[in-house]
Amino acid sequence: MAREFTSVGVVGLGTMGAGIVEVFARNGIDVVAVEISAGALERGRANLTGSTDRAVARGKLAEADRDALLSRVDFQVGLDALHSVDLVIEAVPEHLDLKQRLFAELDRICRPETILATNTSSLSVTEISVATGRPNQVIGIHFFNPAPVMKLVEVVRTVVTSAEVVADVEALCARLGKVDVTINDRAGFIANALLFGYLNHAVAMYESHYATREDIDAAMKLGCGLPMGPLALMDLIGLDTAYEILDTMYRRGGRDRRHAPVPLLKQMVTAGLLGRKSGRGFYTYERPGSPKVVPDERTPTAAGPALADGARAIAKVGVVGSGTMATGIIEVFAKAGYEVVSVTRGAEKSAKVCEAVKTSLNKGVVRGKLSEPDRDAALGRVTWSATLDHLADVDLVVEAVIEELSVKKALFASLDEICKPGVVLATTTSSLPVIDVAMATHRPADVVGLHFFNPAPVMPLVEIVRTIRTSEETTVTARAVCAALGKTGVVCADRSGFVVNALLFPYLNDAVRMLEASYSTADDIDHAMKLGCGYPMGPFELLDVVGLDVSLAIQRELYLELREPGFAPAPLLEHLVTAGYLGRKTGRGFRDHTRR
Ligand SMILES: NC(=O)c1ccc[n+]([C@@H]2O[C@H](COP(=O)([O-])OP(=O)(O)OC[C@H]3O[C@@H](n4cnc5c(N)ncnc54)[C@H](O)[C@@H]3O)[C@@H](O)[C@H]2O)c1
Repeated sequence: MAREFTSVGVVGLGTMGAGIVEVFARNGIDVVAVEISAGALERGRANLTGSTDRAVARGKLAEADRDALLSRVDFQVGLDALHSVDLVIEAVPEHLDLKQRLFAELDRICRPETILATNTSSLSVTEISVATGRPNQVIGIHFFNPAPVMKLVEVVRTVVTSAEVVADVEALCARLGKVDVTINDRAGFIANALLFGYLNHAVAMYESHYATREDIDAAMKLGCGLPMGPLALMDLIGLDTAYEILDTMYRRGGRDRRHAPVPLLKQMVTAGLLGRKSGRGFYTYERPGSPKVVPDERTPTAAGPALADGARAIAKVGVVGSGTMATGIIEVFAKAGYEVVSVTRGAEKSAKVCEAVKTSLNKGVVRGKLSEPDRDAALGRVTWSATLDHLADVDLVVEAVIEELSVKKALFASLDEICKPGVVLATTTSSLPVIDVAMATHRPADVVGLHFFNPAPVMPLVEIVRTIRTSEETTVTARAVCAALGKTGVVCADRSGFVVNALLFPYLNDAVRMLEASYSTADDIDHAMKLGCGYPMGPFELLDVVGLDVSLAIQRELYLELREPGFAPAPLLEHLVTAGYLGRKTGRGFRDHTRR
């Protein structure tokens, strides 16, 4: 029989603590909520009432239930109030010495059978536990932010945590409606070990002016379907907390440079820019604690006519290529009202592409997303050709041929000879340097990357890749074109992986390393990222969809260009590719897809 928990204590009512109080009280458990001072207690109370009031306003919580919830919480200053609770969970700042002192005190105050839990994200639960006389009753219960919303809890057992305590805490998580994964005590556990390298990398991109905050966040939301972009997430976590987590992970996790906090973070923390909780971090919020972003001096001016200022007029577009991307891109431009010249390497290929575009447009009609006249008009705007000469008078060329530099360079050299002055020449390459392609022409200022995502008619994101030779006018034109297509264009510099792949694939590779190290299972890792971070797919699900060979190739490119040791492809990924386990397309990758 699992132990009954009728009352619990929560220490520290900041970002996490207030949410944890809410989780327990919502589930009928009495909570003693403790802060360090009367002022902090009031802030903690405001955190809790703010969150429950928002839940009521959204219709997710009845007023009577909110009142019952709040009546279960006993707000107190000082730890003495915790003398008779069954479990204490601590959510004070991420400092080992602070937590150790706190646990020694709790050990003195609480009943001998009370379980003492830490919500630490990165510190050693074992080191915290040995500050008490009951290390076998100390455990990690790692909630995710916001605690009332995120389903996952990582239960962290040390080598001395008793099996009974683990079982009791697992049963408690189930009662709270959470899904738990139980794991050993390692820096960052599952989710943060995979998350924080990515977050830090995004901050580094921002710090180096690689892309704007809005563009970095939009890229990850729209390109990967994440619930928030990395910089908005940093603001939610709290920059001080994030700094401490990174710093601890760097020191505990083998001094991986990717966890060394980006200098900007330290500067922001010192300047009091802590994220939502202080009202300002990467973004500015309505007031401290508010989730509402308000415009500030970095907010880009509204889209619309201003966006098109200085842009070249684009009416006729050439699309070169006959693969999946070219087909999708033809459809996107034709639907948006552009006149399109499709160029393939022969009439047969043109017929195939034409058929594919028709099929896709018809699907839109069947689904009620496109009217028949609009479909016919879109098709009527496309002309089919097998010679580049027909591109002499287009305003924009989008190249989507095979991903081979020599082929693309030769094509751009031809376009340079054929196309009229003032044309914008765009490549959809996802991994080659755009500048190499640009330098095959005599007009590198007119060359830009337009990285569409697959399937192009569906995915809302386009990465606009500006080389060091791309003119401002070309970039502005590319932005205006993306807006006219109904896509979000994010501008970034010409570096391997642009924004999305550079941030996504190292994380996937890290997940493979974690599996390889037998720290956890593919199922638990997938669960942790989906339920702890709200990702639409876990890393192994995604790798199997993308294809292990494609993933390995991208990871290799990133490693070769950036020379970051942490980006070296995981040996397990290489072995699976060598073995022909490429994911869904071959029936087997990290999972077997043939048995269903
Ligand atoms: N922020 C996140 O997204 C997140 C997610 C999961 C876990 N965590 C972990 O949760 C813990 C708390 O982080 P946070 O982001 O909520 O921090 P926070 O800064 O928002 O809140 C910490 C609170 O602890 C209080 N406090 C400090 N010393 C205290 C003491 N001696 N006694 C009682 N209260 C004290 C502070 O007044 C403050 O209200 C950390 O260990 C962190 O790693 C954070």
